[in-house]
Amino acid sequence: MKTTLSVIKADIGGYVGHSSMHPALIEIAETALSEAKNSGMIIDFSVLHCGDDLELIMTHTKGVENQEIHKLAWDTFIKGTEKAKELKLYGAGQDLLSDAFSGNVKGMGPGVAEIEFEERRSDPVIVFMADKTSPGAWNLPLYKMFGDPFNTAGLVIDPHMHDGFIFEVLDIYENTVVDFSIPEELYDMLVFIGAMEHYLIKSVRRKSDNEVAAVSSTQKLNFLAGKYVGKDDPVLIVRAQSGFPAMGEVIEPFTFPHIVAGWMRGSHHGPLMPVSFEDANPSRFDGPPRVIAAGFQIANGKLVGPRDIFKDPSFDRARDTANEMADFFRAHGPFEPHRLPLEEMEYTTLPEVKKKLEGRFKKI
Ligand code: F6R
Ligand code: MG
Ligand code: MG
Repeated sequence: MKTTLSVIKADIGGYVGHSSMHPALIEIAETALSEAKNSGMIIDFSVLHCGDDLELIMTHTKGVENQEIHKLAWDTFIKGTEKAKELKLYGAGQDLLSDAFSGNVKGMGPGVAEIEFEERRSDPVIVFMADKTSPGAWNLPLYKMFGDPFNTAGLVIDPHMHDGFIFEVLDIYENTVVDFSIPEELYDMLVFIGAMEHYLIKSVRRKSDNEVAAVSSTQKLNFLAGKYVGKDDPVLIVRAQSGFPAMGEVIEPFTFPHIVAGWMRGSHHGPLMPVSFEDANPSRFDGPPRVIAAGFQIANGKLVGPRDIFKDPSFDRARDTANEMADFFRAHGPFEPHRLPLEEMEYTTLPEVKKKLEGRFKKI
């Protein structure tokens, strides 16, 4: 029996502003998914939030991109939106871009990462969920997990990993994908994935047997809507241990709170701060961007967990560094590199200001 793990998320209303989740929305999602579990549609579920994003983590046997499962998520978000509207939560339904569900939530607004696999004797999985940033935020950690022997000792000393991994990279402007075989094509791949707002690591597979190791959500909401309606706030599923990086190697990249795009108005660079579930409420200048990690043992489709992986003093220093970086970046105010380059900002007044100043720029 193959197990499918589906993580589907949406921002259907923030509490307060864009900072967090009202408990009523969690309750609605839990009720909806319990019903689906009782009816046998899904095997198990866990509902979490990262900032203003509602995260539905579900297991089933229906495979990826399954219409029934996507509809369940969609309907759950619709129910939550009704409550969000009643409470006048902020941006109620902001990620639901279409009124009519047409088979698959991909391209409709919610973010999706799904993985289907034959369960091993024991299958530890980490689900990463971020708020106030874009899917490019996963490039650096995924590179470190699966490509950097200074992060992942197993690449050097575990015979099952020693051949390396295949990275599938998406060009979000051209909508094309390319596979890189790592380590041989490492330098070629880095040319692209270093540009995190253009090229995204979509999935990673083990080279020796093509087994899927990681899948990220790669929706770009701003493109989907044709206009800005909310940062993508991505999710990432990573399988760990026994021929994949150990759990400790999977989470090690987050000890470095690297600089990502997002934060206030999706238009600023800032550090990605790893936090516990209870601290996933980006408030200061709507940030800094957060990431949580939910660990599960998957047992015949049952989600044994979640364990709150970043609730660990060994991530305190990363949080301290992130706070220092946040001060440093904030001190730049409206100047780059805190503010994103003009063409990457989610909010801009540029066309209007340009129009107002028409004729005032003199050739010299
Ligand atoms: C960033 C985000 C927030 C909002 C900001 C302004 O992803 O969601 O930083 O962009 O709070 O929000 P509005 O325009 O809704 O007032
Ligand atoms: Mg929001
Ligand atoms: Mg969000």
